[in-house]
Amino acid sequence: MKSSTVYDCSVIELRKHSHIKGNITVVENNVSVPFDTKRVYYLYDVPGGESRGGHAHKGLYQLIVAASGSFTVTLDDGKVKRTFLLNRPYQGLMVVPGIWRTLDDFSSGSVCLVLASEVYSEDDYIRDYQSFTKWKK
Ligand code: TYD
Repeated sequence: MKSSTVYDCSVIELRKHSHIKGNITVVENNVSVPFDTKRVYYLYDVPGGESRGGHAHKGLYQLIVAASGSFTVTLDDGKVKRTFLLNRPYQGLMVVPGIWRTLDDFSSGSVCLVLASEVYSEDDYIRDYQSFTKWKK
């Protein structure tokens, strides 16, 4: 999606089943997220001060959740940047294809859970920012 913008991305409130013994949040295909999840991965043990991401995807939809702790996600469509603080396990940031993203400020012990619409493919990545802005034009 070359024409996508950062305004196509937003934080989705996921349902939280609260219980005195602990809470549960469920993410269901096409109910909580508008895509079928083909892959789940999680980032953890990110050293303080480290930055992740630094790339865009050509066709991948993702839901990014701070399953534990907090971090920031900066989205960039080549024109506009928006930064989101994720710090609730019942909120997910929907990132559409064609958006450059950078993840920063990971708190100690944080876990970044990602639901993705496709299996891993290096061909779907744009890892060079100049190539990204060219591709967007
Ligand atoms: P990458 O997506 O570049 O990391 P991040 O955006 O979190 O900084 O992934 C780092 C490496 O991990 C990548 O070079 C290959 C591997 N990897 C897989 O093999 N499968 C996957 O689903 C993902 C996300 C990464």
